[in-house]
Amino acid sequence: MAAITFTLNGKSQTIDVPAEMPLLWVLRDTLALTGTKFGCGMALCGACTVHVDGAPTRSCITQASSVAGKKITTIEGLGGNHPVQQAWVREDVPQCGYCQSGQIMTAAALVAKTKNPTDADIDEAMRGNICRCGTYQSIRKAVHLAATLQGGRA
Ligand code: FES
Ligand code: FES
Repeated sequence: MAAITFTLNGKSQTIDVPAEMPLLWVLRDTLALTGTKFGCGMALCGACTVHVDGAPTRSCITQASSVAGKKITTIEGLGGNHPVQQAWVREDVPQCGYCQSGQIMTAAALVAKTKNPTDADIDEAMRGNICRCGTYQSIRKAVHLAATLQGGRA
């Protein structure tokens, strides 16, 4: 076991877990933040995406020890009123919903970095997030809307 301290959704957090435990298990099982989903466990689907120091990161293959001293943001940390979340509601993106917290976290990292993403930017950023329900067209529209909302233009 190892004591690991990091910042989680803006607050300092210390946990005592095996160093190699996946961050996804830390979030869901140790800290009861179940908004981040388990899909494949092999870095193939994006359902488990969180931000580590602002970068979209697959928590299923991220060891707990590797996030010591870093800033983690989960879907809970977006607060519910983030421009991406507003856009997702307005474009009615989710179907079954399972992939959507990962989609939103990847999109939030994109619009934080790229103020007016093109379709190509969106496709490139989002291509690792798989949606079995095929919501890709809605996601693309919602990312454009999120960028607009973020810029205060809608
Ligand atoms: S659960 Fe992590 S990428 Fe699929
Ligand atoms: S909304 Fe069902 S898997 Fe994406």
